[in-house]
Amino acid sequence: MSFLRIPKNVTALSKFSRTYFSTSSRMSQQPDGLILGVYKDLTLANSVKALDENVKTQLTEQLKNSGATGKLGELRVLYGLDSCPKQVAVVGLGKAAEASVPKNMENARKAAAIGARALREQGAKVIAVDSLGSLQGAVEGAKLGLYSFDSLKAEKSRKPLVEVTPYDQTEQESSAWKNGLACSEAQNFARILAETPANHMTPRLFADQVASKLSPLENVEVIVRDGEWAEEMKMGAFLSVTRGSAAPPRFVEIHYRGGKENEKPLALVGKGVTFDSGGISIKPSANMHLMKGDMGGAAAVAGAMFGIASLQLPINVVACIPLCENMPSGTATKPGDVITAMNGKTIEVLNTDAEGRLILADAIYYASTTFKPHTLIDVATLTGAMVIALGDVFSGVFTNSDSLWKQLDDAGHNTSDMFWRMPLHPSYKKLITESPVADLMNVGSRAGGSCTAAIFLKEFVAGLDDEEADEAEQIRFAHIDIAGSMDSGSTNGYTIKGMTGRPTRSLIEFARTFQ
Ligand code: BES
Ligand code: MN
Ligand code: ZN
Repeated sequence: MSFLRIPKNVTALSKFSRTYFSTSSRMSQQPDGLILGVYKDLTLANSVKALDENVKTQLTEQLKNSGATGKLGELRVLYGLDSCPKQVAVVGLGKAAEASVPKNMENARKAAAIGARALREQGAKVIAVDSLGSLQGAVEGAKLGLYSFDSLKAEKSRKPLVEVTPYDQTEQESSAWKNGLACSEAQNFARILAETPANHMTPRLFADQVASKLSPLENVEVIVRDGEWAEEMKMGAFLSVTRGSAAPPRFVEIHYRGGKENEKPLALVGKGVTFDSGGISIKPSANMHLMKGDMGGAAAVAGAMFGIASLQLPINVVACIPLCENMPSGTATKPGDVITAMNGKTIEVLNTDAEGRLILADAIYYASTTFKPHTLIDVATLTGAMVIALGDVFSGVFTNSDSLWKQLDDAGHNTSDMFWRMPLHPSYKKLITESPVADLMNVGSRAGGSCTAAIFLKEFVAGLDDEEADEAEQIRFAHIDIAGSMDSGSTNGYTIKGMTGRPTRSLIEFARTFQ
């Protein structure tokens, strides 16, 4: 068997590491910027005891004079406040939501992002953040809001490096601060992977990036497999997609062993198409460049693994990430070709642009048979129909398990990286089983395109619908279609125009809270 085991001591980070791969959280200089928050009636959301009454009066006075109201996202930068950093960004937090932690957290995220970008714009190098009603939200917002993918730009047009630190230094050790750092660094890592152009993020480079970022972490093992290994595993569906490309495929397996030795793992599977041209069923050229992000599922899964391992959560998780390009060429799979997946099922490839489900089919079968997970979740930029259905607000979840849906829904709400339940229903199956030549077809009709894709994937989950099995023994399966949430058309709060890295935070939160 051919595979490359990445040694523990990989330190070579790529040139993309420059800004975001730093894990240091120690303050090197005194802050020259501070972010504070005010609620609707201009009451300070300041938890810092040190801020004395005089300063508070000064602040309130200046805010009033500036016409501030404290509505969410409203920004004022103040200078020359006694015993404060040089520049103080005061950001509106809107109404304090009494009973809603997620809402306060989300408001803190938005406010911190707006404040942090304003201070960076004005030259601040070390930005202190007050808790803004939620310390975790504040650090996440600042870190996510400062993200900027400029490693391929000239040095002089790159955004300056900025350090983020809690205003109250004792909070450095709090779980809120640590969770916030881990979640934002994880999502920024996913953003970089997804945003990086396809010529800089081939399957091989993706695997290298993930290995160097994750293998130094405690209890993590990264195994990178090549095409030969996939041949040996008889992954005919995965390989059929790789055939048109000159870039060799990879299959990345990440193990995180934080639970008991014999405890069944959670399995995450991510679609890693580093560029989707459509193959022989080629896509129109308008917006084809966005298909550099067709490994957004793989990126979110890798990001989540980073977050889970950084927090050393007490569970076992395994991630499987099939990586390839979908390209047209003389050796590419042709419409009408029949291929055989790892589980022995034959598939008529009616449209080579429905490639995601093919690579996921083998990855899902491999993960469910090899690791016998209690829960398997795949994350994929799978269907254009999902963009139409949910836009960029929710990621769609297709699951056979009410308990799994409940846990994902909660995780989505808690992180404001939300899910909406979609049908995983056997009625859609007939649309993909009426091939005259094979067991399955890789597309149904246009109608219900996201639902037929989901039911196709379910065919490759081993351990489902096994009549012999006890209900509790059955694997819980969810497919998350992120075609709509993978990118954002504009910068708004902590959302930065481009690839979003979603749903990294909600996957980490799910892993943190499920039992
Ligand atoms: N990667 C695309 C889906 C996609 C489209 C993601 C737009 C994000 C934005 C996927 O591989 C694809 O091409 N799907 C086809 C399937 C169809 C041929 C059945 C689609 O949705 O058009
Ligand atoms: Mn496609
Ligand atoms: Zn695709």
